[in-house]
Amino acid sequence: MPQVLAPPSPGALRACMARFTTGVTVVTFAGDDGPRGVTMNSFTSVSADPPLVLISVARRARSHDQLVDSPFCVNVLGAEQEPIARLFAGAAPGPTAPRWVPDAPVPRLHNPLAWVECRPWRSYDGGDHTLVLGRVTDLGHRDGDALTYAWSRFGTAPHSVDGIEHLI
Ligand SMILES: Cc1cc2nc3c(=O)[nH]c(=O)nc-3n(C[C@H](O)[C@H](O)[C@H](O)COP(=O)(O)O)c2cc1C
Repeated sequence: MPQVLAPPSPGALRACMARFTTGVTVVTFAGDDGPRGVTMNSFTSVSADPPLVLISVARRARSHDQLVDSPFCVNVLGAEQEPIARLFAGAAPGPTAPRWVPDAPVPRLHNPLAWVECRPWRSYDGGDHTLVLGRVTDLGHRDGDALTYAWSRFGTAPHSVDGIEHLI
């Protein structure tokens, strides 16, 4: 007989996920009134052939309906870009205004640590989120320390030249 498990409380799930360190991105796209962005840490690499990445968009986000059907760019933030992360997570605008790359085919931020431009490929029901697979159409990167998120706080991961690329 399959065991029926009681669902975990949202708080218990959040407490586990808070212990998982991620990078921080701003997903940008063309809105009706100009470029838009949403801070997201649900970004993950999925496939090399075809090149696919995944983002998870909250259904309650104002951007949801437009973003899930639009070309988008995942901007991976550097350590010094925490104010940008806060801004696109809904914080009141501070002294840091976002700078956009002029004339980019898909709106993207100036000088992220890495950027991955995508066309929407497939989307799936993810409960109170929509899972969007994007097919990569262009990308770029620079060196620098990374912005991280763990324990519900921003942090940093130093740039390292000694990676373990051979393991993955
Ligand atoms: C570190 C961090 C990670 C986040 N990750 C996601 C995410 O993966 N998906 C998502 O839909 N919202 C995520 N959010 C929340 C959105 O950034 C926030 O709800 C934003 O205000 C939505 O903007 P909108 O309502 O204008 O679309 C995250 C927020 C923070 C601070």
